[in-house]
Amino acid sequence: MKILVVGGGGREHTLVWKLNQSPIAEKIFCAPGNPGIADLAECVPLKVNQLEELANFAESQQIGLTVVGPEEPLVLGIVDEFKRRGLKVYGPDRQSALLEGSKAHAKAVMERHGIPTAKFQEFTHFGEALEYIREKGAPLVIKADGLAAGKGVTVADTLEEAEAALDDSLRQSVFGEAGQKVVVEEFLQGEEMTVLAFVDGETVLPLVPSQDHKPIFDGDRGPNTGGMGAYSPVPHLEQWLPEIHRQILKPLAKGLVAEGHPFRGLLYTGLMLDESGPKVVEFNVRFGDPEAQVVLPLLENDLLEILLASCDGRLAEMELKWKAQASVCVIAAAPGYPGPPTKGLAIELPENSEIGTQIFQAGTRLQEETLVTSGGRVLGVTAQAEDIEQARNRAYKLMKEIKFKGKQYRTDIGAKAL
Ligand code: AMP
Ligand code: GLY
Repeated sequence: MKILVVGGGGREHTLVWKLNQSPIAEKIFCAPGNPGIADLAECVPLKVNQLEELANFAESQQIGLTVVGPEEPLVLGIVDEFKRRGLKVYGPDRQSALLEGSKAHAKAVMERHGIPTAKFQEFTHFGEALEYIREKGAPLVIKADGLAAGKGVTVADTLEEAEAALDDSLRQSVFGEAGQKVVVEEFLQGEEMTVLAFVDGETVLPLVPSQDHKPIFDGDRGPNTGGMGAYSPVPHLEQWLPEIHRQILKPLAKGLVAEGHPFRGLLYTGLMLDESGPKVVEFNVRFGDPEAQVVLPLLENDLLEILLASCDGRLAEMELKWKAQASVCVIAAAPGYPGPPTKGLAIELPENSEIGTQIFQAGTRLQEETLVTSGGRVLGVTAQAEDIEQARNRAYKLMKEIKFKGKQYRTDIGAKAL
């Protein structure tokens, strides 16, 4: 079978790497891909938001399954377009993708189905929002309603920061249309964890949990990024999994079926955990980046088989099997990130990497014959081993062998689990 993966970051490199291990994957295309992906797949120069061109390509190449990596095409309705043309595609349709595409929508869904989450209020009017935050007081969390490339959330420690975030979003329109509505949330204290799940109607198959590291600097200091590293499993928070399933994943899946619009695809649940139990911080409708990089190498099953079963309504017949190992991913970012990154810096990679380690590329490009930086998160090194400590050691050993000017990486990925 021919496969098309849509996207070109570390998550998509991981998806291509995992799908490439399937005995039924004959040839893989990736749009637009990156130089790392090009070792495993044929890269197609199409952008992820060129829905019609992507569908034309899938039609003309007789692609058997398209797997969508990032949120943007899902929220734009790529799945609806492919299905309209009778093309098999893995991911939620436009309506279901609103769980990620609109924070206010996600909050309303959670409210309807009694899913624990931070208390909130939504606003389109600056004056009303201002009055509300002054009444509530800091800390508060201000979220642009729509997609804002990971920059739409402000955790405000002071009222001044909260006011500035409201002003940016509602008056200065720094997020455009996406920020014309904001959700103001109660600040939740605790530790974060991600649970990904394959969902098909009422069938929910959770993957092993993982933990992302959003701030740029060690000790969770500095501004938020797309994610500086991850590890899986998360032994010290595992006791919450039954409750997460019972209070969050099941009621959501069942609730969406009851509303007449079942969710089909990969559901990402970002959680905050404290003594009072799990609360949802956000839903996304695709694999996490860098969570995919740690979780997929631990999956024993043929990923292609699971995705096809889900497309054919047979997900309930699948049973996920996991390697009894831990996995750690450390991201190398370009200088300047999470501000504007320096592009065009030459990257040196080791000749070959050990079994059980991977380099998943993200913001890279070829300049003549040289691999150079072309984005904020340049690449991630992932390693598996018996436990988190050994996986960390292997990942950091490999990280030291990767060279480019001004390379930034956190040295404490996975430390919370030790
Ligand atoms: P989101 O894009 O909604 O995941 O938000 C980005 C990050 O902001 C999360 O990973 C959390 O670290 C933080 N965050 C979001 N909502 C809250 C909240 N209600 N309380 C505390 N931190 C939050
Ligand atoms: N790692 C966070 C995300 O994928 O949204």
